[in-house]
Amino acid sequence: MAEPTKVDLVVDAVGLRKTYFGARPLEVLHGIDLRIAAGEFVAIIGQSGSGKSTLLNILGALDRPTDGTVRIDGVDLATADEDRLAELRNHSIGFVFQFHFLLDEFTCLENALMPLAIEHGVPPAEDVERITELLRRVGLGDRLRNRPSMLSGGEAQRTAIVRALANRPRLVLADEPTGNLDSKTTTEVYALLRELNQETGVAFVMVTHNDDLAAQADRILRIEDGSLFEGR
Ligand SMILES: Nc1ncnc2c1ncn2[C@@H]1O[C@H](COP(=O)(O)OP(=O)(O)O)[C@@H](O)[C@H]1O
Ligand SMILES: [Mg+2]
Repeated sequence: MAEPTKVDLVVDAVGLRKTYFGARPLEVLHGIDLRIAAGEFVAIIGQSGSGKSTLLNILGALDRPTDGTVRIDGVDLATADEDRLAELRNHSIGFVFQFHFLLDEFTCLENALMPLAIEHGVPPAEDVERITELLRRVGLGDRLRNRPSMLSGGEAQRTAIVRALANRPRLVLADEPTGNLDSKTTTEVYALLRELNQETGVAFVMVTHNDDLAAQADRILRIEDGSLFEGR
């Protein structure tokens, strides 16, 4: 039998379960399998409360599953120690949330450079150049020295997207990245995500309520009743 072609998997999750142990235990994910190849652009849809953020947080090593295994870029999250997880979060994964979480005591450029500043103290000059160029590309060339509070919603979110790419991750997890934006800005920000995906080959997993956006992804995954389904 021929060897199966090796697919470069950025995400390889098997049998994921998640129970929140509150006053009453709540099992949100009932055993989910999920594989995402390098460079894919995947949309995750599902009703509010269906477990989309729970799944994304587990994939981002921000939360642990109750059961099942997750490999991100080949690393088994269950056996990785805290240092390895921190390294993975900082190097392999970029995050974009609905709210941009930019820090107002820093400029647009400084915010985008934050992952590099955290790592190196002073970001290397070539990275500053690369990030400056990326900010220019996404239309923020005249905003580099502005504080986030001076930016529009779309500008702030574009800054957050550049920040997510600062460490050249292999995977960007975006939880309703356009959830706070008007429809025109949503279209622009989505186009940017898509462009960066195609250009850099970084895989994107985007949670969205917007059916039109989801329809443009390479693949749609839907969470319903704790299970994951292909297609809408
Ligand atoms: N930390 C938590 N503790 C207890 N229950 C939680 C916690 N986080 C989320 N939940 C519950 O888990 C379910 C899924 O939440 P979530 O993943 O945020 O859904 P979605 O992102 O699809 O709206 C919801 O019923 C929510 O109330
Ligand atoms: Mg959510």
